[in-house]
Amino acid sequence: ARTIYLTRHGESENNLTGVLGGDCDLSDRGMEYAERLGKFVEQENIPGLHVWTSQLKRTIQTAQFIDAPKEKWKCLNEIHAGICEELTYAEIQELYPVEFSNRDTDKFHYRYPGGESYEDVVARLEPVIIELERQNNVLVIGHQAILRCLIGYFLNKPPEDLPYQEIPLHTVVKLTPRAYGCDMVLIPLNV
Ligand code: G3H
Repeated sequence: ARTIYLTRHGESENNLTGVLGGDCDLSDRGMEYAERLGKFVEQENIPGLHVWTSQLKRTIQTAQFIDAPKEKWKCLNEIHAGICEELTYAEIQELYPVEFSNRDTDKFHYRYPGGESYEDVVARLEPVIIELERQNNVLVIGHQAILRCLIGYFLNKPPEDLPYQEIPLHTVVKLTPRAYGCDMVLIPLNV
């Protein structure tokens, strides 16, 4: 059976400061994850593997030690937070308290002003999902909101639950399609 591998980018500079969005570099620890992921992929010895990243630096840097063909997909970019890009949750709560509480009320449908909702992200991921259904072994290096949507699709989760699933950093998610749904295994790479 073929396998879909999913991982978030390694820890980024913004993960350290709690800033949303942007296009920053990996932290030193994030770089270690990139190296560790390169070794993991080599050990797994995956036939015909293709690696897909977003167009953001942190996913491209995470892929850099993997010896396989790579493609950059704009529709794998992280959920766009509009006016809240490059702010922390504390700053959003202070500057835009109404937005902050609206998002909390209906996180799946809530759209950031000038940005996206989870519902928007699910819609823009459709080409990726269609292509993932067709392909053989693929490793997607993405972002937390993106992986929430992809896992939700493959595990048939109710849309409203998607935005709350925790996807740990420095962990590879292995999805194996079965007759009904997918098996999911989490592999933490110790970094
Ligand atoms: O930076 C964005 C996060 O990956 C998504 O977080 O949708 O829970 O705010 P959130």
